[in-house]
Amino acid sequence: MPLKKVAVKPNTMTIASVVGARPNFIKLAAMAAAVSEEKISHVIIHTGQHYDFEMSQVFFEGMALPKPDYNLEVGSGTQGAQLGEMTKRCEAALLKVKPHLVLVYGDTNSTLAGGLAASKNNIPLGHIEAGLRSFDMRMQEEKNRVLVDHISDYLFCPTQTAMENLKREGLATKSYMTGDVMVDSMVKFSPPQKLIDSKLGKLGLKKKGYVLTTIHRAENTDSIERLSRIITALNDLSKEIPIVFPMHPRTEGFLKKYGLLDKISNLVVTKPQGYLEFLALEKYAKRIVTDSGGVQKEAYILGVPCITLRESTEWVETVKDGWNVLVGADRKKMFDQTLGFKPPKTGSNLFGDGHAAERILAIIRKDTR
Ligand code: UD1
Ligand code: UDP
Repeated sequence: MPLKKVAVKPNTMTIASVVGARPNFIKLAAMAAAVSEEKISHVIIHTGQHYDFEMSQVFFEGMALPKPDYNLEVGSGTQGAQLGEMTKRCEAALLKVKPHLVLVYGDTNSTLAGGLAASKNNIPLGHIEAGLRSFDMRMQEEKNRVLVDHISDYLFCPTQTAMENLKREGLATKSYMTGDVMVDSMVKFSPPQKLIDSKLGKLGLKKKGYVLTTIHRAENTDSIERLSRIITALNDLSKEIPIVFPMHPRTEGFLKKYGLLDKISNLVVTKPQGYLEFLALEKYAKRIVTDSGGVQKEAYILGVPCITLRESTEWVETVKDGWNVLVGADRKKMFDQTLGFKPPKTGSNLFGDGHAAERILAIIRKDTR
């Protein structure tokens, strides 16, 4: 695919951000806002890992993000095929742009592809949301985190736990405690009351009178037995309290493939939501039931008890603090915790003050002169 030349500001530093999946865009939004305040050229490379309107463009529009300079249109595929193609196309884009630094975000395949393309070409690499560990290497995200951390030059950590994880792996000298850029995005894009009322009204939901659920992790979707167990439990739970379910395309695909769509007839099923709309649904949920990484953390920040459909989490602080509980795919625990979970009276400010992106930029500026 021929790549056009991207115009950069003369005599300025050029940073290239590689993104591709929904959570990458939300983290990018924080950095894009901070970078726009400075004399820096910011080139955005979208791998095309996510491509549906509701999984990609809705975030660029909803957060008024600059249009990506490149969309590499890689799309879906098996792990190796998707990663290989993304790495190849990212490399071509990076060789064209010749940035001073590449930033990658989180733990998706786009993160690893951008990281490999930069590192293999000896372009300095910064990993935003570095140091997280679930210690479950069967998860694609854990492989991506560990690999990217070990090839990065700058490791920007959201929490003290992340700093400690990296220290144990011999990476302390490259690690910086910056706080979490997702807090920056939450502060910047807080949903207005009108949007909240209209969203809840349209879905027939009462404030603090419903459960919000998201399921998309491979561990839960790909096995018919496990997916069936989870959605049957959720459908039965929704007879006790309304459950709204913005459905990820991966999950929709497997529900169709396994003939399970009729098992969710009592849930309020929606398309994936835009960021502000989703924050609104999170804020007024009584409980959140999820397997998402980012949603566990947002639940904590918003003070909504979270029931996590996983055996492990990289956001261990949320569990230690008593606001998150891991239930796997256990029906009884799902019921008991969703209906009876008693959150602690207080929470701490674990993830920062909404200025992580500024700190990251200050570190980059100091070093990359
Ligand atoms: C990816 C990340 C995961 C992250 C999630 C965020 C990896 C290995 N996984 O998972 O860590 O939590 O994004 O949402 O990078 N699909 C569509 N339209 C789209 C995108 C995907 O229909 O716009 C469907 C396709 O059938 C595709 C499947 O979803 O095969 C999975 O997509 P993929 O990008 O491989 O992984 P996610 O499950 O989205
Ligand atoms: N999100 C969203 N719309 C949705 C579901 C999630 O905007 O319908 C946002 C959510 O607020 C969070 C991020 O997407 O910021 C989490 O992404 P996801 O759950 O897809 O991936 P993970 O965090 O598990 O990697």
